[in-house]
Amino acid sequence: MKKTLIFNGSPRSNGDTASLLKILTKNLDGEFKIVNCYKDKISPCVDCRKCREIDGCVIKDKMQEIYDYLIDCDNVVVATPIYFSQPTGEFLNVASRFQRYFSQSYFNKNKPNLKAKKGSIILVGGGNGEWEPALNTVKDIMKMINVKEYSQPVVSHNTDNTPAINDENAVKTLLETAEFLNK
Ligand SMILES: Cc1cc2nc3c(=O)[nH]c(=O)nc-3n(C[C@H](O)[C@H](O)[C@H](O)COP(=O)(O)O)c2cc1C
Repeated sequence: MKKTLIFNGSPRSNGDTASLLKILTKNLDGEFKIVNCYKDKISPCVDCRKCREIDGCVIKDKMQEIYDYLIDCDNVVVATPIYFSQPTGEFLNVASRFQRYFSQSYFNKNKPNLKAKKGSIILVGGGNGEWEPALNTVKDIMKMINVKEYSQPVVSHNTDNTPAINDENAVKTLLETAEFLNK
């Protein structure tokens, strides 16, 4: 059975990101776990550097559950609004906790034991500026958790005028994303 970990980087419970995630999860096979970056009370990395000594993170919060899930999940989805052409700050805070994997391989010379994963990225934006910087940042982050293969990104970049749920192109790509993750 497929296992998918989904990061929701939006603060809005019924916003654009949430509406696209609803469609995705309806079409996903297997089980999934959603990390709500604004609500799950996950501390950011504080650069204590303990992960240069031990393989893991000493902050005991919900992130520990996510580390466990990451060991053998098949897919990772990052869905986030674009703030200043980047993922939201709260998503970046959560993602900073992946630093333990960087430390493990770079300082401790011990490759993290994470199953190779498929990755999908969903970005929504009002329509100002660029979305590519956000995509590149999320891809850099996903590399740290062993994402090896990506679907075409879902980008709805005109939500000031058209809610993401009414963006036909984005919804079509989203359904293709579900197929990619289910394969
Ligand atoms: C602080 C802030 C910064 C934003 N920066 C951008 C931006 O750089 N480019 C853009 O297209 N939209 C920007 N937006 C608009 C949101 O990305 C947009 O409203 C999005 O659809 C909200 O998604 P959500 O409903 O899932 O939270 C910004 C919104 C906020 C609150």
